Amino acid sequence: MVDVERVLDEAGLTNTHVREYVAHWAGVTGAERIEVVSAADDARLVQESLDAGELLPAGEGLYYSRSYFKDTARAEERTIVATNDESDKGTYNNWRPAAEMKPLLVDLMTGASAGKTMYVIPYLMAPKGSPLENFAAGVELTDNRNVVLQMIRMARVGVEYINDLGDSFVKAVHVTGDLENLGQGTPDDKRYFVTVADERTILHFGSSYGGNALLGKIAHGLRQGSYDGWKNGFLVEQFMLLGITDKETGKKYNICGGFPSASGKTNLAMTLAPDALGDRYYVEFYGDDIAWLWVGDDGKLYGMNPENGVFGVAKDTNEKTNPTAIDSIVPGTGAIFTNVAYNEKTQEVWWEGKSEKPTDLDGWLDWKGDKIADRVPENADAPWAHPNSRFTTTLANVPNVAKDFEDPAGVEIHGIIFGGRTRDREPLIRAITDIAEGVYDGLTLGAEATAAADGLEGVLRYDPMSMRPFMSYPEADYAAHWLKVIGAAKEKPIFAHVNWFQRGDDGRFLWPGYRENLRPLLWLMQLKNGEVSGVQTPVGIIPAREELNLEGLDDQALADLDTILEIDRDRWQQEMKFREEHLDQFDGLPEEIWAAHRRVADDLDKS
Ligand code: GDP
Ligand code: PGA
Ligand code: MN
Ligand code: MN
Repeated sequence: MVDVERVLDEAGLTNTHVREYVAHWAGVTGAERIEVVSAADDARLVQESLDAGELLPAGEGLYYSRSYFKDTARAEERTIVATNDESDKGTYNNWRPAAEMKPLLVDLMTGASAGKTMYVIPYLMAPKGSPLENFAAGVELTDNRNVVLQMIRMARVGVEYINDLGDSFVKAVHVTGDLENLGQGTPDDKRYFVTVADERTILHFGSSYGGNALLGKIAHGLRQGSYDGWKNGFLVEQFMLLGITDKETGKKYNICGGFPSASGKTNLAMTLAPDALGDRYYVEFYGDDIAWLWVGDDGKLYGMNPENGVFGVAKDTNEKTNPTAIDSIVPGTGAIFTNVAYNEKTQEVWWEGKSEKPTDLDGWLDWKGDKIADRVPENADAPWAHPNSRFTTTLANVPNVAKDFEDPAGVEIHGIIFGGRTRDREPLIRAITDIAEGVYDGLTLGAEATAAADGLEGVLRYDPMSMRPFMSYPEADYAAHWLKVIGAAKEKPIFAHVNWFQRGDDGRFLWPGYRENLRPLLWLMQLKNGEVSGVQTPVGIIPAREELNLEGLDDQALADLDTILEIDRDRWQQEMKFREEHLDQFDGLPEEIWAAHRRVADDLDKS
């Protein structure tokens, strides 16, 4: 039996509420050792992981890890929001009674960490001093060292973040389980990822993959956070956040926005190319996956990134698409690569779209750890890296991270955008100035699911505000809460829907995307300023071709531009019927949202 009190004393963990919680779960999981960690432990823990073979070296100060091959993405169907109030049941939150789920998880976790170390990770999902600090603290307990290393990169970790917060912390328990015997994806699936939202308790069993196991990031930073935001007057969204400064006027615009997982948030926030547009603009990175938004005492809408790092999709990340990402994972950054291909002789990593595929197969292993050179012919074309393979690096490694990224005050928000992978219909950008119509647009975000959701790649589905996998309360309440929070802001943000993924008949992307995505965003800010007027359509204001900065775009892009600036009325009218069915699922949806829907439908009929 571990001497919990002694370990916590030595670690300087003085918060009595946290101490009780740790002692309780040490008893349940039966861990053999307890260790309280902080960011300062990183080098030692990395060395231990290297010695244990859990991490492999991938160059100077770079590391490689593999997760179990049936454990490479978030498992949405196994993810549950539980509360003690049945009226919290929504359409997408997989609601279950807390009284049913808690004993089930306790049962699964009982004795499950026998012989292992239970790491105690006190964390803060906010810069210290944030007005939302009381909602941002948590303590993750995990039996997995790699989870600790990832959490140190993704969150602010150390006892100093939680000692003074009393019982204002999220209890986040992670037990990996016996990954080879969990029946992943079968009727006998034993994995459960449960957020008991009204008890601020997260219980995740059966995975070591980041999206299921880094509880500060997704379960707290999104699911629990949005429930807390609902009860306490702020918004928590799967949003990137960036700032654009116009050097000529000195004005700065901050834009946040939601695209479903693996649909371009990280790339958009990191890698816009101001230099390509004549050095007039400067673009800064704030966050790539989560934003918490609130209205300040001055009546302005503020936003902040609660994270401390980037958990980015590796596929197609290269010098051309995202040089900033490449710079943030160079030797010495401490970056961790997960489920990419690895060369056991040279210690290089590779993924599809990084560079030309290596022709010398010597030493190369695919993401499962199998030798590429030994592949049977049927398997010759299988990807080397998993499509949801990732890199993890801290914000401080991102070359264009904003100077004030740690400012607890957050930044004023001027624009909110929604987008996703939509192969037709959605134009490059359409701006929306009405708040209810903007919220309606977010609620009807429809896009193709990606490899970040296990087993669902390519499926077309509605994904309200890109929060479908993280929804914690009913969608009608969610819509009302949005109207209330944004409605309270004195200066309203402009909304827009963007689409970098429209395709031609031959399947090619019609817009070059990536660094070029700055162009439509600049147009949006000019529209907000009244410098351009755009073209009014039933679904919003789209740019007149000549209003977009097109300097330096290649001929193909210029030729395709008319198609992606077009509103296909028939397709939109068909879409309106699907939207009606989608919204009909949400009992008690605010009348303003229905009114916005009818207005768009009527305008389409008249056009
Ligand atoms: P996130 O998961 O939403 O942060 O998305 P990422 O930015 O990581 O991108 C996910 C995938 O989409 C990666 O493989 C990117 O290379 C790809 N991607 C991102 N932005 C664009 C774009 O503008 N155009 C195209 N064609 N692909 C993109
Ligand atoms: P992503 O983040 O949105 O950048 O893919 C991880 C996730 O949502 O699972
Ligand atoms: Mn995400
Ligand atoms: Mn991302």
